Amino acid sequence: MDAGGQIRSFPDLEALSRAAAGIFVAEATTSLARQARFAAALSGGATPRRTYELLATGPFRDRVNWQQVHIFWGDERGVPPEDARSNYRLARRAFLDHVPLPPENIHPIPAFPSVDLGAWKYEADLKAFFGQTVPRVDLIFLGLGADGHTASLFPGSPVLGEERRWVAGVPAPGQGAARVTLTAWAINRAALVVFLVAGKDKAEALKNVVEGPREPQRFPAQLIRPASGRILWLVDREAAGGLSAKLF
Ligand code: 6PG
Repeated sequence: MDAGGQIRSFPDLEALSRAAAGIFVAEATTSLARQARFAAALSGGATPRRTYELLATGPFRDRVNWQQVHIFWGDERGVPPEDARSNYRLARRAFLDHVPLPPENIHPIPAFPSVDLGAWKYEADLKAFFGQTVPRVDLIFLGLGADGHTASLFPGSPVLGEERRWVAGVPAPGQGAARVTLTAWAINRAALVVFLVAGKDKAEALKNVVEGPREPQRFPAQLIRPASGRILWLVDREAAGGLSAKLF
């Protein structure tokens, strides 16, 4: 299966992160030229941290009209917002606390103390913002797990095929915290999905997802094919090590 979109390879995570920050700025600028708001959903994990830090630095920060930007998340762990595992905490410390975003423009996932209740609350927040039919997020950043998961859509999860709910609470992967995640259906309503994938530990999963046979139960990231949007894969050289040259 092909990636269903464009793959761009970078020498390292720094170059990948600069490209990702540039895409955020470009998409925000283009979107705000034709609409009043720009809605972005952030990923968790370690890979996007540098992208977030760069967005909070002058060359990128000073090119965005933050008053018109709204920040959402693709998933969240079932922990308090001040917990070191929180995706919200990661984004606040690396990015959101350093740009002039109105507080009401930040839409955290209330994943604690109940991921199931938090999923319903977040879905209600999304519907209040996007309307009742389609969560047309302008830009969603996603990561890729070494097992082929993205957001908190894990292999074999019962929510992989969900097409009514926009948001679901999911049990803990292994011994980790339970999660709240956008469903693949909701992610696929986005205008642009940008995967950020770095490190040799992701090489096998990346090859399976973008070049392997279609097995979305095993590799849930294969579910991400925006219905009427675009998808971009930003990968570093280590993660791209197993990919065919024809993809570039
Ligand atoms: C999360 C993310 C998750 C992450 C991947 C990759 O909440 O952890 O949403 O899907 O993107 O697990 O994580 P790393 O960037 O840390 O490798």
